[in-house]
Amino acid sequence: MENLIEKAASKIKNSKLTIALTGAGISVESGIPPFRGKGSLWEKFDPMKYAEINYFLKNPNEVWEVFLKDFEKTLKKAKPNSGHKGLFELEKKGLLTTIITQNIDGLHQKAGSNDVIEFHGSFANFYCLECFERVDIQGLDLSQIPPKCKKCNGILRPDCVFFGEMIPQDALERASMLASQCEVVIVIGTSALVQPAASIPVVAKTSKAFVIEINPEPTPLSDSIADITLLGEAGSVITDLLIELETF
Ligand code: APR
Repeated sequence: MENLIEKAASKIKNSKLTIALTGAGISVESGIPPFRGKGSLWEKFDPMKYAEINYFLKNPNEVWEVFLKDFEKTLKKAKPNSGHKGLFELEKKGLLTTIITQNIDGLHQKAGSNDVIEFHGSFANFYCLECFERVDIQGLDLSQIPPKCKKCNGILRPDCVFFGEMIPQDALERASMLASQCEVVIVIGTSALVQPAASIPVVAKTSKAFVIEINPEPTPLSDSIADITLLGEAGSVITDLLIELETF
């Protein structure tokens, strides 16, 4: 592992444009369970019910009561961990330009990162299904479920991308452009199973970028797309990379 860290650090050091793609795994050390794997959210809740747009629109009360209410409580308590903070350190050193995240927890921004593309939207904001009035998470009143719009009493929904919805166009375009132009992409904490996010490292690879994967377990990227797979938890591996970069 030692020389893999050295090789990864050297690639990052010499790269003119480095981006990161992050998934739920980087927030596990902040107390947010991943979606897949043991103890994960989709082991307990059927994503085709509780994270699918048509089911939500037909059953907003149930989806809020069974899933969204507790998910919001988990997110509200979560703080950035050494993985999020380490990526901000890389940004401060001029070694990381943009984070493309599949996460909706806002922890990269809370860690200080300035250029974060929220590929699956965000749980920081909500809007009314009837009049589209927006409210941020601080203004969300969960004393009644589902939460209602103060303006028209319509039901509120999170501003994140449900299964069955499109990725925000600006996020898709910017992420695709960066994937095709970057020299290094660091892929952290994603099972690389959900499209189109999982194509970002593939586009980067096709455009001759060097792909560094950080994950305790191998993923579909590990053999074919990743040039280096650093098997470990995001917090400790990113910390090791920063230590190695200090030696340059
Ligand atoms: N550090 C790094 N990676 C970790 C850690 C950790 N401490 N713990 C777990 N992982 C890895 C797991 O091995 C797994 O590969 O994080 C990954 C989490 O995978 P998923 O739960 O599938 O999360 P993600 O890839 O982000 O899911 C993509 O699916 O349900 C949708 O919209 C949801 O954005 C999500 C998308």
